[in-house]
Amino acid sequence: MRIKNHPILEDLKNRKKVYITVDGRKVEAYEGEPIAAAMCAAGIRVHRTTPRHNEPRGIFCNRGRCTDCIMKVDGKPNIRTCVTLVKNGMKVESIRGMGDWSE
Ligand code: FES
Repeated sequence: MRIKNHPILEDLKNRKKVYITVDGRKVEAYEGEPIAAAMCAAGIRVHRTTPRHNEPRGIFCNRGRCTDCIMKVDGKPNIRTCVTLVKNGMKVESIRGMGDWSE
């Protein structure tokens, strides 16, 4: 679900449509929106899993204060996706447990 007309925020029609990939899946996004917003609109709720119990985590505070939404973005781990804006062609990957530090 995506809010297309909002009385205070800019009309979505004025925004440029871009695409990102999330775990290899092509996801539509709009310039100026956070990665987490594009993922939410695409129905993707799990951003990472916990190291000890492998439990799913996603948006919690939605303002950059917790770390539940962290993901690997363009090769950089631990990026807060709720406060990081999309860029066309961005590669976003979920973090499983402690993540992959091989790069
Ligand atoms: S949801 Fe808390 S930092 Fe992103």
